[in-house]
Amino acid sequence: MRKNYWIKKEDKNGGIIWRRGRAQGLEGAKGRIGNITKQIEELLKKKKKIKVLEIGTGFGRALLELKQKFGERIETHGTNYEKEWNQKLTAQYSLDQGFSREEIPKIYTKIDAGKKLRFKSNNFDFVFCQATVQYIIDRALFIEEVNRVLIKGGIAVLELQEYRSDHPKKYQNMFEIRKDNKVISTIKYLNNFGNIKVRKSLGRDWHYIIMSKVKKLNLKLKLIKHIHVEKINKNWWGTKIICEIRK
Ligand SMILES: C[S@@+](CC[C@H](N)C(=O)[O-])C[C@H]1O[C@@H](n2cnc3c(N)ncnc32)[C@H](O)[C@@H]1O
Repeated sequence: MRKNYWIKKEDKNGGIIWRRGRAQGLEGAKGRIGNITKQIEELLKKKKKIKVLEIGTGFGRALLELKQKFGERIETHGTNYEKEWNQKLTAQYSLDQGFSREEIPKIYTKIDAGKKLRFKSNNFDFVFCQATVQYIIDRALFIEEVNRVLIKGGIAVLELQEYRSDHPKKYQNMFEIRKDNKVISTIKYLNNFGNIKVRKSLGRDWHYIIMSKVKKLNLKLKLIKHIHVEKINKNWWGTKIICEIRK
């Protein structure tokens, strides 16, 4: 994560300017991971109440908007990596933005989604992740862990950000998979798993996945290298990872 990452600033009239890149909300989600409101509506056709988790929620804007729309029918949970992106900050943001106390999601801090997730298995009906995967190192483990925490019948929608045309060629493929020392298509590889569908993100270079729960997901990928490209050039984004197919 970048250094000097400001959270909020004061405007000329003493109001708060909240960092926009951490409050993309449902509008931002549409381009990156499609219409998640629709996914939730589908799940609510089968169940009275569902549990929703956003990995890397920032201020929790998307969760707040979902709660405003679905009210008592959804329970909202969000994670952040940094300890200062906590419950108190989310509450401040929510109230400043005109949301009610009841609409504030439950926030978990110090969650690194490239490690085993701190949630029990079979726990959430819907998991989504936008504008975050670029910071997650072991993305194969991340996808497997999301599958683990989903309940039977649950759905996850996760941005891949596997390709960036604004990077130099060497760092365009941000989620590289190698088979017998040759780079293969990440999209085709993931699409081969029966529970995963890869979709194109709108107006962006990359894709996202829609995943349904399976008992155990093993992507058979071993992380062999990661490169924080934004440490090389501050105009580049996130971390490139290289994985090898496990024999
Ligand atoms: C650009 S913000 C996106 C916030 C929100 N999803 C949105 O779209 O407005 C990036 C998020 O990634 C989280 N993050 C950074 N590194 C992470 C990691 N290794 N594992 C999980 N989350 C991480 C941060 O805490 C933050 O919530």
